[in-house]
Amino acid sequence: MKLSKALRPLKGELRVPGDKSISHRAVMLGSLAEGTTEITHFLEGADCLSTIGCFRRMGIRIDKDPRRILVHGKGLHGLAEPSGILDCGNSGTTARLISGILAGQTFASELTGDASIQKRPMGRIIRPLRAMGASIESIAGNDCAPLRIEGRPLRAIHYNSPVASAQVKSCVLLAGLYADGSTSVTEPALSRNHTELMLRYFGGSVVSSGLTAAVQPEPRLRGGRIDVPGDISSAAYFLAAALLIPGSEVLLRHVGINPTRDGILRVIRSMGGQVDILDKTVSGGEPAADLLVRSCPLHGTVIEGDLIPTLIDELPVLAVLAAFAEGTTTIRNAEELRVKESDRLSILAESLSAMGADVTETEDGLIIRGGKPLRGAVIHSHLDHRIAMSFAVAALAAEGETEITEADCVKISYPNFFEDLNSLTR
Ligand code: S3P
Repeated sequence: MKLSKALRPLKGELRVPGDKSISHRAVMLGSLAEGTTEITHFLEGADCLSTIGCFRRMGIRIDKDPRRILVHGKGLHGLAEPSGILDCGNSGTTARLISGILAGQTFASELTGDASIQKRPMGRIIRPLRAMGASIESIAGNDCAPLRIEGRPLRAIHYNSPVASAQVKSCVLLAGLYADGSTSVTEPALSRNHTELMLRYFGGSVVSSGLTAAVQPEPRLRGGRIDVPGDISSAAYFLAAALLIPGSEVLLRHVGINPTRDGILRVIRSMGGQVDILDKTVSGGEPAADLLVRSCPLHGTVIEGDLIPTLIDELPVLAVLAAFAEGTTTIRNAEELRVKESDRLSILAESLSAMGADVTETEDGLIIRGGKPLRGAVIHSHLDHRIAMSFAVAALAAEGETEITEADCVKISYPNFFEDLNSLTR
C-alpha cells in the first residue's frame, strides 16, 4: 500500500467498526448463556471471526447476516467436544480467554493459531489455571501455543496477577465460572473490564473493587442484546490523523469510552489537543459517545504507570503523534508492547527512525524527541495491524511517499480501514 501526504484536511464523520474486545466477549458469553444473544455492530475482523469459528466447532450455532449476529447459546455446560483443533488465528484474546473456558469442561481440546500466536507468552495463563487444578500444557514445551487442555473440575483461587492484562484476568474469571467457590484476581493496575461488565449484564455475579474482581461460580447466564460500541482503538487513528493534518475536523460516532480504555483521550489533552465528548450513552454497562476532533498543535508528554493499560493498543499511534509534536515524549512501563502481535517497541523505533524521527528505544518504552519533519519511507508492517494503521497516519503527515508492506493485515481489526481513511481525505 502506497500513501502520500494529505493534500486536504480530513473532514466528515464516521462510525468506526465495533469494539474488538466486546465483540469477542459477546460471542463467548453468548455461547455460555441460555437463549439467543443478538449482537449488532459486531466487528467482522479476522480476530473475532476466529472466535466465532472456535465456538462453532464446539457445537454452538451462530448465524451471521450483514445486520447482526445471532448466537444460540447452550448454557454454561452446553459446549461439545470440538470436532478438531481450535484455530485462534492471530488472536491472543481468543486463545487466552477460551483457555479459561476450556479448562473447566468435561472434554479435552487443543488450540493453536498463526506464527505470531505460536510465539506469544501463554505461561501467564498456564500458571493460574494450573493453580486452579487445570490440566493445560504447551505441546512444544515452550509456554506457547499449541496448547492441550483436558477439562476437569476446578478449584477457586485468589490470583495476584503480575501483569495488568485483561486477557489474563478474563481467563481466570472465566475459569472461575466452573470453580468450586468464589474466584478473584487482583492486578497491578486496572485493565479493561469488559468481561466483568458483560458477565454482570448476562446475570452473572461479579464484584469489582479497586484492582480486584471476584466471580461466583455456576451462574445462570441469560442471553440478551448487545449493541457493540465503536472501538476506541480504531477511532484512535482518525483522532491522530485529524489532530495532525491542519484544518481537519472529524466526528466519530458512537465510540466506546469505558474509563479502562479512554487513556488516549487523556494523553491527547496532556499534549494540548482537544476531543469534545458529545451525546454520551450507556448500553450493556458500556459507555459510548460521539467524539469531535479538530487539528491542533501538540507538545510532548509523559505516558506511564497506571495509564498504560488504558491505552495499550493505542501506543503505536500515540508514538506517531509524538513524533510530530514539539518537544520530548517519554513512554515508560510499556514492556507489554514487546509481546503483542509483534515487538511493537522495536518496530516503532525502527519505523519512526526510517522516517527521520529522533527516537530512542528503552527496555520498557520510547523517548521521542518530536517536531522534526518526517519523510516517507518503506514501513514493514510485520503483519501487525496496528503498525500498518499507525504508519498510514504518519504517511498523511510526512513529506513524500510511504509504502506499507502487507498492509492488508488491517483486516485483523479493521477490514475497511483504508476505505474509511479515504472517505475523510477525499
Ligand atoms: C485485550 C486485552 C489487551 C489488548 C488486546 C485485547 C482484550 O491485551 O492489548 O488487544 O480483549 O482483553 P492484554 O490483556 O494482553 O494486555
